[in-house]
Formats: sequence, C-alpha cells, structure tokens
Amino acid sequence: MIISIESPADFHVHLRQGSISQLIVPHVRKGGFHLAYVMPNLKPPVTSMEQALKYKTDLERIDSNVDYLMTLYLSPELTPDEIRKAKNAGIVGVKSYPRGVTTNSEGGIESYETYYPIFEVMQEVGMVLNLHGEVPSDAETNVHVLNAEPRFLPHLLKIHAAFPALRIVLEHATTRAAVEAVKSCGPTVACTITAHHLALIVDDWAGQSWNFCKPVAKYPDDRQALRDVVKEGHPRFFLGSDSAPHPPEAKSVSRPAHACAAGVYTSPILLPLVAELLESFGALDNLEGFVSRNGRAFYQRPYTGKGSGKVTLRKLSERKQVESTYILGNDSLIPFWAGKEIGWELVE
Ligand code: NCD
Ligand code: DOR
Ligand code: ZN
Ligand code: ZN
Repeated sequence: MIISIESPADFHVHLRQGSISQLIVPHVRKGGFHLAYVMPNLKPPVTSMEQALKYKTDLERIDSNVDYLMTLYLSPELTPDEIRKAKNAGIVGVKSYPRGVTTNSEGGIESYETYYPIFEVMQEVGMVLNLHGEVPSDAETNVHVLNAEPRFLPHLLKIHAAFPALRIVLEHATTRAAVEAVKSCGPTVACTITAHHLALIVDDWAGQSWNFCKPVAKYPDDRQALRDVVKEGHPRFFLGSDSAPHPPEAKSVSRPAHACAAGVYTSPILLPLVAELLESFGALDNLEGFVSRNGRAFYQRPYTGKGSGKVTLRKLSERKQVESTYILGNDSLIPFWAGKEIGWELVE
C-alpha cells in the first residue's frame, strides 16, 4: 500500500543550537517534514526578534529546504513594540513556559495577567500564542506531574475569554480534560498532539527514562481521548511532535542526585511513526488532515514550495527496526522506539 499526502508540517519541534543541531536539523526532512515550527527554549532563550532571525539563519545554513517558522520565548523582556517588530519580520508565535516546569524554563512565566498587554498586541497583529499547558508542581496545593495539565486548563479558558480573536495553541495535550477544554473553545483555539503521547501511558515512562517527557504521558483513558480526537478528524487538532532530543548522558542518568532530562526524540522517524500509530487505532484515513491540512489551515500556511509538494509512504512487507543511535562527530542521539519495528517507510 502507498499513501501520498500534502507536504507535512511539524508544528512544534526543538532543533537546539551548536554542534548538536548539525545532527538534529537534517532529521526534520529525514522524518518526512518540510515545515518546522521551532521552539525558542535555547540557552539563553530566544526573546527578541533579532535572536530569532539569527537562529533562523543558523538553521537555514544547515538545511535550507525546510520552512522554519520562528517563535519567541514569553518573558518580561518582551515589549508590545518588540511584538510588532517580530510580526513584521515574519516571526509567527510566542511560546509561554511556566517557570521551572521543563527544559530551560527557569525564565518562564509566573502569572498570565502580567502579559495581557503583550497578548493584546499579538491579537491585533495576528501572532499565535503557544501554551505549555502545565502549572508548576506545588505540594501545598497538591499539584504534581499527573494533574499539572488539568490544573492549567482554567488559564487557557480565561485567556481565550479575554482575547477571543487571539489564536492560541495548547501544546502537546496529554489528557481527556485538555481535549474537551480545547473542543469547548472557539475557532481561534487549537491543540497539538505529539506522536509519543499517542503511544505512551504512565507505565511506559515510570522506570523508562527514554520515554520521559513533559508533560508526562497520562492514563490509558487520556491516551484514548487523544486517539479518538485524531480519529474523529477534528480540524483544530494537529501534529506537533515536540521532538526534544537530549544527549544520552542526560537521559540515562546513573547518579542519584541527577534528574533525567525531559524529552523524546521522534524527528528522524516522525512520519512513518505517525502512520504506524494512526494505523494501529484505525485512523490512517486522517493522516493527511492530522499532519498537514489541519495545522496549515490554523496557521494560515499553505504549502509554499520548499521540499517536495507531496510526500509518499509505503507499507512494508517486512517491518523495519528503528535505528539504535544517530552519530555525527562527537554527538550522538537515541531516537524514540530505538530497536522497535515500524511497518512504514518514506518513498524517496
Ligand atoms: C487531582 C487534583 O488535585 O487536581 N488530584 C490528583 O490527581 N491526585 C484531582 C483528582 O484526581 O481528584
Ligand atoms: O519533554 C519536553 N522536552 N518537554 C518540553 O516542554 C521541553 C522539551 C525540551 O526542550 O527538552
Ligand atoms: Zn512545551
Ligand atoms: Zn516542546
């Protein structure tokens, strides 16, 4: 069997910086994608138009055949004036990270009201607000990794009510509650779903650091809700891989005092993996909507001509193992599902 789909778009990906980017960036196309919506949580975070444009140039130098849509990191440094400049320079969105919740989020936000003047201008000029939808863990109020997303949802609803025309994306949803909250919103609110959250539940990361990411994968019923909304073909839900590579020594931690870095690396296998997963729960017919049409419609990004217009997948008669490691110079990365089999491949 052969499937051809309109140029797929990954609406949430971490491409990092420095030498490791030389290994990571080419994997966007290797995974079948020609559009990358690039996260800004570098060190230091991308907080200005100038930094974002410089970062884009760096990425284009590595692979110029991908559309890089750039984002800024929401922080107190950001001004309404900078938003206008960023918009004019083609920067698409602003990502908000709650303080301390995940990789390089020490500078994240504390209260959303503080940023209402920024959201006001974003709404006016048509920039997208990307929300990492978790509140920080807090023993006092019983917040922990399993309820951090449901506890965030009132913030989403409140921001949407205050700025009904602001386009908002709830990133990497992991719960039934999040799916329902996004569905209850108007057409300006969308939601990304990762490949790994269509596969994993709590049991898969408890004791398996390679499957550990933020937000953590939740209960089987939550995963079912994610699968159902993809199967339903709801137009405001689409792929954002949240592919988030970390060096093996940061993932596979051998010392008690060190925590495991959050993130799974799906970029190099992304489209075959998504096809495999959608097929497994009877949603293969929605592949093109999920990986291409829905996200491109929400972001108003019709296919612009980079890479090939259509991408073709072939179902294999013999399933193929995912590579165990990718190596370039002194850098190496281990992908999600390393050593597991996938029944689809890209046709060159
Ligand atoms: C939930 C909470 O605190 O939001 N608690 C939890 O997950 N331990 C609510 C609940 O599940 O009752
Ligand atoms: O698991 C994650 N990894 N979640 C995030 O939000 C950030 C990401 C990263 O940058 O490593
Ligand atoms: Zn995030
Ligand atoms: Zn992310």
